[in-house]
Amino acid sequence: MDVIIYYNLIMEVILKDFNFVEIIRKKREGEMLQEDEIRAFIQLYLKKGIPDYQVSAFLMAIYFQGLDEPEIIALINEMIKSGRTLDLSDIDKPKVDKHSTGGVGDKASIILAPLMASCGVVVPMITGRALGFTGGTADKMESIPGYKVELSLRDFKKVLKKVGCSIITQTDEIAPVDKKLYALRDVTGTVSSVPLIVSSILSKKLSEDIDGLVLDIKVGRGAFLKRRNEAKMLAFLTRRIGQGMGKHIEFLFSNMDVPIGRAVGNLIEVVEAIDCMQGNCPNDLMDNVLSLGERMLYIAGIKAGVPLLEEKIKSGEALDKFKEMVKAQGGKFGKIKMAKEPILITSLYSGTIQGINAYDIGLAATIAGAGRLKKEAKVDPYAGIYFLKTVGEAVQEGESIARIYTGKASDELLDLVRKAFVIK
Ligand code: URA
Repeated sequence: MDVIIYYNLIMEVILKDFNFVEIIRKKREGEMLQEDEIRAFIQLYLKKGIPDYQVSAFLMAIYFQGLDEPEIIALINEMIKSGRTLDLSDIDKPKVDKHSTGGVGDKASIILAPLMASCGVVVPMITGRALGFTGGTADKMESIPGYKVELSLRDFKKVLKKVGCSIITQTDEIAPVDKKLYALRDVTGTVSSVPLIVSSILSKKLSEDIDGLVLDIKVGRGAFLKRRNEAKMLAFLTRRIGQGMGKHIEFLFSNMDVPIGRAVGNLIEVVEAIDCMQGNCPNDLMDNVLSLGERMLYIAGIKAGVPLLEEKIKSGEALDKFKEMVKAQGGKFGKIKMAKEPILITSLYSGTIQGINAYDIGLAATIAGAGRLKKEAKVDPYAGIYFLKTVGEAVQEGESIARIYTGKASDELLDLVRKAFVIK
């Protein structure tokens, strides 16, 4: 009998007696789940056999009780098996990806994918949409007119072969369970759970047939992980599980108290990323890109390091790769421009900017339309915030400090942005 038919028959038998309420109860009480219970959960969820309200309760139970390492491994394995995986064995180049645990203004992936491709490293990047108050690379790329983030596995591979990098998102074919859980966690307050983040990231990244991964672990006000010990736990688990599955995992811990760069939103961040590839980059963003890129080169076995990355930006090769990728995925590079009239935010005081609260800015960008407050909501590609002044710079009372691009202006939104600036 065909192996798939046999497997489906066995699953039918297992799923027939599966009691999901009992699984929720077990996790709520902190009991450990068995591999076959996790398998049954994934199978049924994918077949729409469990409603979102029960899965939400299950996610909340995990949020409070956590998952042990064997449970996380079982979850990752089932999430990977639920979709199709890439086979890049016929591309004779190192394959390395980068992922961020989520930040505000974090557009490093948009720069790194083409930058690494210009260095001869293949980057098959499966990314997520906006999550909570943080932005999502998939939404940012999708804001480019015509750019498709949902590719078939076949087309994903075609772009990788032709260009050397491709930025896509989870689909019903690639990482389908993460696609569903990610969207549900976003609207049920269950994002900032270390085991859920580890399984979400590794299930996507281990579907990519990469040699290794660099994880940018963001810590601070504008990150899901507010404390260093949570970030360390995430690093420990990701490395142990990832390496156990044969991947080289490197990290960078980076501060996310202040948004990175000057732009927060979707298209506005793509524009800033393009500026960076043209050599005009805020220092904090360039430092982040170079630190991550250096680690990616190290995994790829390329010794040239930061000077090579700088040369690829200076020569325009990184930007050329970006344009190639955009074209290969249907995007129109020439149509990338911020269209709407911004609202100016002025300072109430004179002084020096001591900080910009990344959480408040992330929330403000979401309210402005750059993120989602409901699962089905569409993001506004043009919504966002641009800092005319940033940390360390002097301002005068009445001077403009930020621009807001939004179709949903309100006094609360303007106040939130204004109050995010700490001026003394
Ligand atoms: N990035 C992911 O891919 N998943 C998470 O849960 C958080 C950040």
